[in-house]
Amino acid sequence: MRRIELDGPDATRALGRALAAAVQGGICVLLRGDLGAGKTTLCQGFIEARTGIAYAPSPTFTLLQAYPGKLYHLDLYRLGTADLREFDMEEIMAPDAVLLVEWPERAEGDWPAERLDVGLSGQGGSRLATLEARGDAAASALARLWWPQ
Ligand SMILES: Nc1ncnc2c1ncn2[C@@H]1O[C@H](COP(=O)(O)OP(=O)(O)OP(=O)(O)O)[C@@H](O)[C@H]1O
Ligand SMILES: [Mg+2]
Repeated sequence: MRRIELDGPDATRALGRALAAAVQGGICVLLRGDLGAGKTTLCQGFIEARTGIAYAPSPTFTLLQAYPGKLYHLDLYRLGTADLREFDMEEIMAPDAVLLVEWPERAEGDWPAERLDVGLSGQGGSRLATLEARGDAAASALARLWWPQ
């Protein structure tokens, strides 16, 4: 497990960009943390680095946002509980796709074996990120993650 201190929103976005450079297709990034922990902020950095598109908040009832290059952002907050069978998992978890998930704990069903579990905690002016890989591809992605600490 890697622990990374994030001393403000810019650091959270920078971790998103660093993950975008390290993560290859077929990996699912699950983001856990309380309301306001910084999950979306991290996704912004990831999406902007990967696509060059400035992140825009999704319309209220859009749970799944697709970006060029088979990048998907799933935010399950608005659902009480979700059933993963509601989504086209073959598409969003194709071997060349990358899926970012906020509130993964709301979904029933199995997340892919290759995944990075990212936890965000803390309040006020900083956060602590914990990163844990499951699966060989995710472990190499985490080993490739460049972060100056
Ligand atoms: N490392 C950090 N230190 C301090 N504040 C941060 C940090 N990272 C993000 N924030 C701030 O925390 C607030 C909430 O961030 P964000 O919307 O990304 O949280 P979230 O986890 O997606 O929340 P939700 O559960 O509501 O979706 C924002 O104002 C953001 O700028
Ligand atoms: Mg969010």
